[in-house]
Amino acid sequence: MRNDLDAHWMPFTANRQFKAAPRLFASASGVHYTTTEGRKVMDGISGLWCCAAGHGRPEIAQAVGKAAMELDFSPPFQMGHPAAFELATRLAEMAPGGLNHIFFTNSGSESVETALKIALAYHRMNGEAHRTRLIGRERGYHGVNFGGMSVGGMTANRKMFSPLMLPGVDHLRHTHEIEANLYSKGQPQHGVELAEDLERLCALHDPSTIAAVIVEPLSGSAGVLLPPKGYLERLRALCDKHGILLIFDEVITGFGRLGAPFASTYFGVEPDLMTTAKALTNGVVPMGAVFVQDKIHDAFMTGPEGAIELFHGYTFSATTVACAAALAALDIYKRDSLFERAAELAPYWQEAVHSLKGRRHIKDIRNLGLIGAVELEPIAGKPTKRAISAFLAAYERGLLVRTTGDIIALCPPLIIEKSQIDQLIDTLGSVLDQID
Ligand SMILES: Cc1ncc(COP(=O)(O)O)c(C=O)c1O
Repeated sequence: MRNDLDAHWMPFTANRQFKAAPRLFASASGVHYTTTEGRKVMDGISGLWCCAAGHGRPEIAQAVGKAAMELDFSPPFQMGHPAAFELATRLAEMAPGGLNHIFFTNSGSESVETALKIALAYHRMNGEAHRTRLIGRERGYHGVNFGGMSVGGMTANRKMFSPLMLPGVDHLRHTHEIEANLYSKGQPQHGVELAEDLERLCALHDPSTIAAVIVEPLSGSAGVLLPPKGYLERLRALCDKHGILLIFDEVITGFGRLGAPFASTYFGVEPDLMTTAKALTNGVVPMGAVFVQDKIHDAFMTGPEGAIELFHGYTFSATTVACAAALAALDIYKRDSLFERAAELAPYWQEAVHSLKGRRHIKDIRNLGLIGAVELEPIAGKPTKRAISAFLAAYERGLLVRTTGDIIALCPPLIIEKSQIDQLIDTLGSVLDQID
């Protein structure tokens, strides 16, 4: 059979480099992938921040197969199927406080678009149609669709499309005060005042024009940028003061990554809307979910009976197989107490990641929950090159990591054993010894 690599235009990939020396996975089990050459590669990034319960979970595969056999597709508009309601109820029970309504999507990007649209529509329903401005944050990542890209703050993702960014968007300053917070263990001490940047934007635009602020409680994709102590609390207070909705993008932090169901649970700060995807199905079937506060949902449930309340949704909102995968994943998280396990492992993980201090090329190390980052000194005039070399060398040595800029991000499955953490860190240390 023809299996040319040319036809598949790979996403966020150096296509020519990849196709000259392909890296192909054939199977996966536990915390390991196996390549098509039969080599084992430890998964240091949970696939792509997705596979919290590790790989090859038969319960999920069986649930997906059963759903496909029983009810392959059920139209999501004006029709339903029981698993979607069961899943929404389970998610609402897991979520903090009043985040009791769930809108299903297929990805993090779609969750973000959905949350932004609900925020805008809510103000209109609430008699405040003048609130149209969206505030994101520099170095934020909210997926690749036009809304998420516009509120996002990663330059490379934006520059090709800059004339078409949504109008009426502004950005808070990012929270990566690296010099003040070098080698932070857990939340950085310095930077709470960065939340006050919202006051600057309120003064500039007037708060009555602002619909919502969207931030990742912890930015993963931009290189593991942590919220300084008190920052999220301050942002919440300022949003309340000005009647602005606060959206937490928990596509990475949702489902146990910090040792609690959500980052909002971990930090004790409740957003008005919360976006999730990735680990919702353990990465097995694409699915996202937007969690919505009662007051926002209820504002829509006021029009004439029989009228559609929100003109938004996807053909693949809450497919039967996605719901089956998510329900099976939630069962595993609960049965195996994986969120608690992540909390128990976090101190060990912290010390392991920070044990790399002093190795070659390292500029900073940081961690929270079962997330870690090693920021490298860039090679002069060649930003990103050193981290890409580290990624390639790690793969050769049997370890999968992820890099952004010159930052190596780590996010192992929550089932990782301490001995495997040691192995991961040893491998990364020897990679840093090896590369230029
Ligand atoms: C915080 C955040 N939001 C949104 C997304 C986009 O998710 P997806 O790639 O599923 O569209 C990501 C992906 O990494 C993310 O980290």
